[in-house]
Amino acid sequence: MIATSYHNPKIICISSGKGGVGKTSFTVNLATALSDKGKQVLLIDGDLGLANVDVVLGLNVRHTIRETIEEGRDLLASLVEINPGFMVLPASSGVPEMANLSLEEQAFLTSSLEEIIDRFDYVLIDTAAGIGDSVMWFNTWAHENIVIITPDPTSLTDAYALMKVLHSRHGRNHFHLMINSVKSKKEGQEVFANMSLVLERFLKITPRQIGAMHQDSSVSNAIRQQKPFFLAAPESRASKEIDAVADRILAF
Ligand SMILES: Nc1ncnc2c1ncn2[C@@H]1O[C@H](COP(=O)(O)OP(=O)(O)O)[C@@H](O)[C@H]1O
Ligand SMILES: [Mg+2]
Repeated sequence: MIATSYHNPKIICISSGKGGVGKTSFTVNLATALSDKGKQVLLIDGDLGLANVDVVLGLNVRHTIRETIEEGRDLLASLVEINPGFMVLPASSGVPEMANLSLEEQAFLTSSLEEIIDRFDYVLIDTAAGIGDSVMWFNTWAHENIVIITPDPTSLTDAYALMKVLHSRHGRNHFHLMINSVKSKKEGQEVFANMSLVLERFLKITPRQIGAMHQDSSVSNAIRQQKPFFLAAPESRASKEIDAVADRILAF
């Protein structure tokens, strides 16, 4: 059961310029960690074209966001309960033409979401990669923006492009950077320093680092088991790193 008391939810959007950098793994495990700390969490699968929150969690999806919008269905009926503190709003998988919502559909989704989100403490959105309309919309709806980058140079240039558009067209100035798949602490620090330098020089923006995650086989093993690594491998380095991010988010 979801609590019905008013929670004043914090909406946090998780994006990246490039795909395959770990957004879905990060978001699913962060949601798990926050619910483990007693918070009510809603995870929205905002990757409306190629959803995979359902796959990572091994869910049986009944109604997707797309069906909910098309049929004017009650959004609450589409939520899937993972545990009493963790609900998921699944998207629709593998249907590229559904990747972007029209303005009317966005307006309907926003008003439907706003009716249900005050039951939660945190609303996390796992978006698609890139700078498509739905990515922009979810990012501007959110209170906080987390951008995931990896040491891969194309991840950095694509993340820069994303933040540039969010800044210049949508007035976003505060970004939390999550550095994923690092091989050492030093590599993580260098990636953050390089990205910060570029953002400060060209956009006059000072980002904050919300955390770093090492390359860790428990992340890929957990995906094969369709379980969050935070539960499948609670003692792993990845779980401790996610736990630290969750603590930082509690302090927002
Ligand atoms: N820190 C990590 N260590 C090892 N593998 C990772 C890590 N982060 C992500 N991966 C792997 O990278 C792949 C892409 O991750 P995913 O979360 O689906 O990315 P995205 O949602 O950005 O496309 C997955 O197979 C996942 O197991
Ligand atoms: Mg994903």
